[in-house]
Amino acid sequence: MAQSEILQTDVLILGCGIAGGVHALELAEAGIDLTVVTRSPRAEESATLYAQGGIAYKARDDLPELLLNDILRAGAGLCHRPAVEILVREGPPLVRSILMEKIGVPFDRTTDDDFSLVREGGHSLNRILHAADTTGQLIETLLIERLRSFPNVRILTSTTAIDLLTPAHHSRNRLSVYEPLSCSGAYLLDQNSGRVIRCLARATVLATGGLGQIYLRTTNPAWARGDGLAMAYRAGARVINCEFVQFHPTAFYKENVSSFLISEAVRGAGARLVHEDGTTFMDQHEPEWKELAPRDVVARAIYREMLQRNVSNVYLDLRHQLSAEEIRTQFPWIHQQCLKHGIDITHDRIPVVPAAHYFCGGVWADEWGRTTLDHLYAIGEVSCTGVHGANRLASTSLLEGLVWGHRSAQHIRTTLHSRPIPHPNQIPPWEETGSEMPDPTLISQDMSVIKNIMWNYVGLVRSAQRLQRAIRELRHLEVEIERFYRQARLTDGLIGLRNAIRSALIVTIAAWENKQSIGCHFRES
Ligand code: SIN
Repeated sequence: MAQSEILQTDVLILGCGIAGGVHALELAEAGIDLTVVTRSPRAEESATLYAQGGIAYKARDDLPELLLNDILRAGAGLCHRPAVEILVREGPPLVRSILMEKIGVPFDRTTDDDFSLVREGGHSLNRILHAADTTGQLIETLLIERLRSFPNVRILTSTTAIDLLTPAHHSRNRLSVYEPLSCSGAYLLDQNSGRVIRCLARATVLATGGLGQIYLRTTNPAWARGDGLAMAYRAGARVINCEFVQFHPTAFYKENVSSFLISEAVRGAGARLVHEDGTTFMDQHEPEWKELAPRDVVARAIYREMLQRNVSNVYLDLRHQLSAEEIRTQFPWIHQQCLKHGIDITHDRIPVVPAAHYFCGGVWADEWGRTTLDHLYAIGEVSCTGVHGANRLASTSLLEGLVWGHRSAQHIRTTLHSRPIPHPNQIPPWEETGSEMPDPTLISQDMSVIKNIMWNYVGLVRSAQRLQRAIRELRHLEVEIERFYRQARLTDGLIGLRNAIRSALIVTIAAWENKQSIGCHFRES
C-alpha cells in the first residue's frame, strides 16, 4: 500500500522539455529552490528530444513583421496577435542569448559567420536554424546537463504527477471552497517505491507537453498522453481551442511499429510523395506548392489518396534529389532510425502516413504563462497562449517553449516573495482506495480503444456522425476507467489511462462544438 510523504519546494515544474528546462534554468540561476518532475527514467525524455526540423530564427533581411505575418497566415485568423508579437519580438534574441550563448547549441553553419538557415512549409523566408536533424536532441541534452550542475535543483525522474493540489478541492479547511481557485503543488507518485508524495509549492508550472498518444498514429513520444491537460481540467483551469490537433503529413509507417517523424525538411530538400507504382499526386491537390503546401493540406491529400487506393501508406522519395552522402549528412537520425526497420533511405523510398503531431489548444495562459488558477502556470505545448491559432507554423513550437519558459520564470522570480508557503497541515495525505495491482492487459486494451476511436472518428477529417459516435463511446469508457482507477493500486499506466480518456473527451467535445472547418480542424459535416 502506498504511503505518503511531504516535499516542500519553492517552485514545482512538471515536465522538462525546452519550456520546463529553460524555465528551470532561469530560476536555478536566481538561486530559487526547484523541483523538476518527469515520469520518464531519463530527465531528457520529452518532445523536445525528438524535434528534428529546428527553431524559427531570422533570415538574412528578415523582419519580426514577416515572421508575424507567416504565423498569422498559418493560424487561419485565430491567432492571438499580442502573443504572436511577443514571440516574434523576443524569440530570436532569446535563441541567441539562451540557446547559443548560455548553453552553447552548435547550430549548423555554412561559414564561420553564417548559419545554415532552411525553409519549411508556410515560411516566406529561409529562417530555420537547425543542427542536422537532431536539433531538439542537442538543445535538450545541453539544458539538462546545465540544470544538473545546480545544487538548488532537484530532478525527480520516474515520478508521475497524479493531480494538482487545489485548496478548493483538497484542503482540510472546507471554507477554502469560497476562495478563488489556486494551486499549491501536486500529488506525485514515485513509480519505484509506490509512495505518493504531497509536493507543496509556492508556484506550480505545467510543462507536460502534448497528447499525440491518444491517437493510433503519432510522432509524439510514449508519455504524451495529455496528462497536464487532464490535470488542469480537473483542477478547474480554463482550457481552449482543443479541437485543433495538428497532423504531420509524414510519419514512418510499418505495421506494428511505433511511428516516428520524418521531418518536413526532407520534403524541403526536394523529396516527392509517391504511390507504390511511383506516381506523384501532390500536383493534383495543390499545384502551386505541391509537397510544400501547408501541413494540413498535405496530410489531407495523403489521407484521400490512401482512401481512394485503399492502401495503408504512401512513400517519400528522396533518392533523386540528394546523393547518398548528402542524405547521410543532412538526415543522420532519420537514416539510422529507418535502417533499424530495414529501410535504407539512400536507395529505398520511405513508407509514410500522416500522424497526430502537435496540440495547438491547451490550458489557457497569458503573456506570462499564468493560467486561470492562482500560482499555476502553463508553458509549452500543454498551454494555449494563442500563438498558434487554428494551425501551427512549422518550427515555432520550440520558439514558443523558449519564450514562455523565460517569461514565466521572470514573473515567478519577481513575485515569489509575496506568495504564501502552503502549510503541510492544510493538505491531507493521499488516500489510496485500491490495493490490487491493475491488470496491464486492461490498461493496454482501453488505451488501444481510445487510440482507435480518436484516429477513426476525431482524426484528420471529422463529421457530425463520427464525432457523435466518439463522444458516446468515450463517455462510456470513461465511466469504466474511473471505476477501475478507484479500485486498483496507482501505477503510471493507470494514471495515464485516466488522463488519456479525459483528454480524448476534451478534444472530441471541442471538435463537436465547432461546426466550422478552420485550420487543422476539418469537418465534412
Ligand atoms: C518537422 O521537422 O517536420 C517538424 C517541425 C515542427 O513540427 O515544427
